[in-house]
Amino acid sequence: MSRLPAPPSTDPGSSLSGGTEVTPRPADLDPARLPRHIAVIMDGNGRWAARRGLPRVMGHRAGVATLKRMVRLCSDWGVGALTAYAFSTENWSRPGEEVNFLMTLFERVLSSEIDALVSEGVRIRFLGDLEALPASLQKSIDGATRRTATNSGIHFNVCTNYGSRRELVRAAQRLARRVCNGELDPEAISETDLAAELHTAGESDPDLLIRTSGEQRLSNFLLWQLAYAEIHITDVLWPDFDRACLASALRDYQGRQRRFGGVMTS
Ligand code: FPP
Repeated sequence: MSRLPAPPSTDPGSSLSGGTEVTPRPADLDPARLPRHIAVIMDGNGRWAARRGLPRVMGHRAGVATLKRMVRLCSDWGVGALTAYAFSTENWSRPGEEVNFLMTLFERVLSSEIDALVSEGVRIRFLGDLEALPASLQKSIDGATRRTATNSGIHFNVCTNYGSRRELVRAAQRLARRVCNGELDPEAISETDLAAELHTAGESDPDLLIRTSGEQRLSNFLLWQLAYAEIHITDVLWPDFDRACLASALRDYQGRQRRFGGVMTS
């Protein structure tokens, strides 16, 4: 396998702001037809590292740099929300060393980025079963969520210890509890009621799902919320996903006809 040099932009310690200029949106993109919400499955970090003869975890470090670029670009180009799949309920089965590295990485990145997130108006939330995370990470998450809760900029959601089936079971349990308490008539339960019990409550459903590294699966990610999302799959590995890749995903999205199960009426 060829050994490629690591690019210089892999330092997850550099600031989210990394400079204050706004990156202009490509002129051919129609600002009126941008997705309001993008979801992303950041796949291919391990393969990116392996191709360079580096340990897998270096791929995750490089992946953080890409994620920071994405938050900034989405914010600059007028996308209202970005939801990233950082750690699934299934990822605990990875080698302990990799899991520990990721937990430490999340915490370090939060601590190095929190001031930039606050000053750039980003509202960060972590979605998933957070109680299973290390106590110190839970504390950082709590602090970052509180400090950015009233920010009016892009909504940045980080799915951590997230699994869509678990989320749906939890929602069903919460609704069942309300039925048992006499607060809710089972016959009257609506899609809105169920959506309100999901981790994503209050967020619009993603319009576009991007998955990198060529895999063509949902991997237990936002199964309810992605019901009508357009899907863009690219062979590019997540650490290499750059501005041109995002522009290309948005062009692909703007070329789709969204019918939501109906028909086009010219
Ligand atoms: C998938 O690639 C990637 C992950 C499971 C981890 C993604 C996490 C980050 C980029 C860090 C995000 C950090 C913060 C603070 C939000 P893979 O390991 O499955 O790659 P492979 O398929 O090539 O093995």
